[in-house]
Amino acid sequence: MADPPLLSVTDLKVTFPTPRGPVRAVDSLGFEVRRGRTLGIVGESGSGKSVTSMAVMGLHTAAEITGSVRLDGQELVGLPEREMNRLRGRKMAMIFQDPLSSLHPYYTVGEQIAEHHRVHIRSGRRAARERAVEALAEVGIPEPRRRAGEYPHQFSGGMRQRVMIAMALACEPELLIADEPTTALDVTVQAQILELIAALQQDRGLAVVMITHDLGVVARVAHDVLVMYGGRAAEQAPVDPLFAVPSHPYTRGLLDSLPRLDDRDDEPLRTIPGSPPSLLAPAPGCAFAPRCPRLATATDQERSRCESERPSFGGAAGHPVACHLPAHEGVAS
Ligand SMILES: Nc1ncnc2c1ncn2[C@@H]1O[C@H](COP(=O)(O)OP(=O)(O)OP(=O)(O)O)[C@@H](O)[C@H]1O
Ligand code: SF4
Ligand SMILES: [Mg+2]
Repeated sequence: MADPPLLSVTDLKVTFPTPRGPVRAVDSLGFEVRRGRTLGIVGESGSGKSVTSMAVMGLHTAAEITGSVRLDGQELVGLPEREMNRLRGRKMAMIFQDPLSSLHPYYTVGEQIAEHHRVHIRSGRRAARERAVEALAEVGIPEPRRRAGEYPHQFSGGMRQRVMIAMALACEPELLIADEPTTALDVTVQAQILELIAALQQDRGLAVVMITHDLGVVARVAHDVLVMYGGRAAEQAPVDPLFAVPSHPYTRGLLDSLPRLDDRDDEPLRTIPGSPPSLLAPAPGCAFAPRCPRLATATDQERSRCESERPSFGGAAGHPVACHLPAHEGVAS
């Protein structure tokens, strides 16, 4: 029998009370991640990727959260902060897009990793310092003992991101959530960081959630993909079928926006026209309808259904998709 999932999210809803009314940033979301697998969560800005990851980590302070987040069988929604804090670091860890905002400028990177280890593992000072050097070596930082004594500003962007990965993995968590970990890096360094995460994952059998707005990143590292639109799941599939037969028009749009080898340099990047849906006053029907290219060839009856009835997330296309008119054939590559 297959391993039970390490992370299992069911019917997650995250709502922010705002002066203009409640903002439902994540709605009815569900996904699973097993040990040794990477789930890529992809969607454009504002689709709810970070709100989802922060809900899993228990980092929201002002949001109402309902549904279930189970980590290794333990329910995290409603868990007291003290217990959540124990799980963060030891059982699950997160890395963010901008390492500088997560690193303190006045302490050396070695001190910061050691402190993190001491707090979560309750290790002694000397053991924590040694673990910090070891962790820096594990993420490929040359001369780790010397570099442990340096400050964040003495590291390049890519090396700082390695430091963050070292810190996240220093306490041997089982789940790693990476929220746009390579967005701020140039392409070569981005590839190195993605390879590093993949290698560490293989070595340790980590479950990884890789959050990105870039399907190119997903293609490189993910086993499974969840496409989010307006806080909801649009489509979910293992990576190969998702790229071969994307069923949701939004997923197709994301794929069409990927740069291709035969693109001319002076060609503008393709984007999906229109803007993300309002979460404050969601329209009835499909949230993607105002931007959906599929409606150009839909019948009046189909169009009216799309505009009045919210599609449920289901398996009609072979894998779950939230669309009344999912595509069943592949895209030309
Ligand atoms: N504290 C908050 N109060 C009200 N709305 C919020 C709050 N935090 C996030 N949101 C809203 O939730 C939605 C989802 O935000 P989120 O940060 O998860 O997007 P994202 O998919 O991570 O985007 P990006 O690619 O830009 O990082 C956005 O519309 C955002 O404005
Ligand atoms: S339900 Fe209709 S509007 Fe929404 S994505 Fe599918 S075809 Fe487009
Ligand atoms: Mg984000």
